[in-house]
Amino acid sequence: MWLLLVILVTCLFYYSRHRLSYFSSRGVRTLPPVPFLGNLTAVTLGRENFVEAIAAGYNAFKDQRYFGLYQYLVPTLIPRDPELIRQIMVRDFNSFIDRGVHIDADCDPLFGRNLIMLTGSKWRSMRASLSPAFSGARCRSMVPLMTESACAVLNYLQEKITGEQVIDVNTITMSYVNDVIASCAFGFASDSLKDPGNCIFRLGKKAVIQDTTQVMKFFGYENMKTIMKFLGVKLIPTQDAEQFSQLFKSALKARRENLVKPRPDFIQVLVDAANGKLKADGESDGNNNESAKTAEKFSDDDLVAQAVLFYIAGYDTTANLIYYFLYEMAINPAIQEKLHEELDTLPSEDEIPDMYEAIQDLEYLEMCVNEVLRLWPLVGSADRRSVATYDFGPTHPGSKDRLVAPAGIHVWLPIYSIHRDEKFWPTPDACIPERFSKERKAEIVPYTYMPFGNGPRHCIGKECSFIL
Ligand code: HEM
Repeated sequence: MWLLLVILVTCLFYYSRHRLSYFSSRGVRTLPPVPFLGNLTAVTLGRENFVEAIAAGYNAFKDQRYFGLYQYLVPTLIPRDPELIRQIMVRDFNSFIDRGVHIDADCDPLFGRNLIMLTGSKWRSMRASLSPAFSGARCRSMVPLMTESACAVLNYLQEKITGEQVIDVNTITMSYVNDVIASCAFGFASDSLKDPGNCIFRLGKKAVIQDTTQVMKFFGYENMKTIMKFLGVKLIPTQDAEQFSQLFKSALKARRENLVKPRPDFIQVLVDAANGKLKADGESDGNNNESAKTAEKFSDDDLVAQAVLFYIAGYDTTANLIYYFLYEMAINPAIQEKLHEELDTLPSEDEIPDMYEAIQDLEYLEMCVNEVLRLWPLVGSADRRSVATYDFGPTHPGSKDRLVAPAGIHVWLPIYSIHRDEKFWPTPDACIPERFSKERKAEIVPYTYMPFGNGPRHCIGKECSFIL
């Protein structure tokens, strides 16, 4: 018995050693891995997040075009050279169409169907069909819904300020963003500051990936898919998934049967499209035809999955963007004052015919948002997985070593690290909105600024923003 155990442990040890020699045996630099844990020991123990793990390698191999890290036993390549980043994200996108993590719909019916998880042609088809829902015209029509939620925040602040009470900014940003997404994606009007127990907020907080357990589930699916499948681990627990589905489907039904007044939200996009109704807001027939195809081609379950994804992908990122924005303004009073001056030039709300248009003209605000997203990119790394053999070129200029990897190699694009690289951003830790001024924008090295990722798989929500 003991002998068997010793043999088993020895075999596992040699297996781990073999897997963890992938990069060194090919001349690719990597930080020393720990058996079985690779380069994620501190991440697994909750001592650092994986963006810090990437930064450790990024800063250690300054002369390399790329380096390797091990997610447990899975070799993961990290490009440092902006040109190589361009090749992976844009030029050779067809070789990197998929993301690293893939969860099948039969493992997790709600999460496995969403755009982030879809691969190959299924992703292409869903992406093409959903894109019109994020057009400028569509987002402009959603501004009144956002304004409604913003008014609730204003009322709350006025009450608190008069009473000189301590204000928790995090509660405000989370509630506001929840209300905006609930309204724009699910068609629900909620005031989470007054009623924090509302169902979308309650369910959303549980589904949003923010604790170590959720992150570990992702790593689990990326590294040990068969075991995770066998154990039936779900990103969104079954009960919550069912509640989300019921909420969305009942809203969809009510709208389809004209039981409630139409609102300019995601649900209405689908309902109008299914009815073949052309919008009077200037959207092209092409857009509506695409959306019509969405409604026809995909089941209600597919659509529920996208609505839930918009919540998950949009909630944490947008709430944290506002949070970091307020933080940077608080510690940089001169910037705050300059921004305030620009905001003061805006006419009062009822004098502005088109709030969306008016915001587009606020140049300094845009510069500040861009700079906050550089400092705090929220999604610190984007992932890809190759679907064809790929030659990554020399490990550093003039090197004879080069990695030619078969399909299936994982890639992490180091968004945070490159945003803080002093080679591209002098005094990288300082908040300097002028880096994004009209005059200086052209100096930015391509592919060193990508808070929304890049290439055909970039953030779908970016289309709605007025950011670089
Ligand atoms: C400040 C806010 C946001 C930031 C910084 C952000 C950032 C990102 C990044 C870096 C990616 C990966 C892109 C890549 O791999 O190249 C991504 C993907 C995605 N984001 Fe966002 N995001 C934000 C808001 C939103 C919102 C509001 C939504 C939807 C309502 C959204 C929906 C998505 C989706 C669906 C994807 C996956 C796209 C695909 O795989 O085709 N995001 N986001």
